[in-house]
Amino acid sequence: MPNNSIQVKGLQKSYKQLHVLKGVDFEVERGNIFALLGSNGAGKTTIVKILTTLLKQDSGTATVNGFDVVSKSENVRQSISLTGQFAAVDEILTGRENLIMIAKLRHLKNPRQVADDLLKRFGLTDAADRRVSTYSGGMRRRLDLAMSLVGKPQLIFLDEPTTGLDPEARIEVWKIVKELAVGGTTVFLTTQYLEEAEQLADRIAILHEGRIIANGTLAELKKLLPPAKVEYVEKQPTLEETFLAIIGKKEKK
Ligand SMILES: Nc1ncnc2c1ncn2[C@@H]1O[C@H](COP(=O)(O)OP(=O)(O)OP(=O)(O)O)[C@@H](O)[C@H]1O
Ligand SMILES: [Mg+2]
Repeated sequence: MPNNSIQVKGLQKSYKQLHVLKGVDFEVERGNIFALLGSNGAGKTTIVKILTTLLKQDSGTATVNGFDVVSKSENVRQSISLTGQFAAVDEILTGRENLIMIAKLRHLKNPRQVADDLLKRFGLTDAADRRVSTYSGGMRRRLDLAMSLVGKPQLIFLDEPTTGLDPEARIEVWKIVKELAVGGTTVFLTTQYLEEAEQLADRIAILHEGRIIANGTLAELKKLLPPAKVEYVEKQPTLEETFLAIIGKKEKK
């Protein structure tokens, strides 16, 4: 097994005239949480699609779990899971049925048990037998994440896993992602939320105008900022802290 889960070199991709990736390089170490930051349209989803074999690059190379994404795409697909930017749950099925279906597709021995365990872990036991069409956005996201964990993949891709979630559900997802990494899973996530990267990531890369313009630990990235000017201002609680205090939940760090 190689040390790196992901290795990307000189990746380029255009959509017709639009040159989105202009030579992207980065590596993700096994067992790490890696966050790719970038604004709308920076090319985050394009990178995720190339790494998960849904889209072919124009030039450059990418290996995932040691397999080339173009010549060994089948091996890549078998060693990863993807939670896309938009939830991929089946509306007509119940939460339990969705999970059982994936477990069967992945040829697991006891699909029912796998589903039960994940429903419990994601706080969906009570809603398990309701159709997904009746779920809230946060419940769908949680189910979507649960589905990506069926079969314990060694590397998971999460494309904006908390977009559209309320602060409580977001913190819940953060907790799950942290647990995954503790369990040895490598996590590649994209986000537009700086705080999300700050909370979760071992390494953070910033994609801007087609290239990775910064890549490092949070501490390393902070060193790139000009030294802070000391000012005496009263610290106001953040809106998130206030929201959580009012609804009576403490942020779990
Ligand atoms: N299939 C496509 N055909 C043409 N242009 C595309 C296609 N897919 C993406 N693009 C364009 O490529 C650029 C990068 O898109 P991408 O979805 O990778 O960005 P992103 O960083 O994921 O953005 P967001 O934060 O909004 O999800 C955007 O300008 C987008 O409009
Ligand atoms: Mg995207």
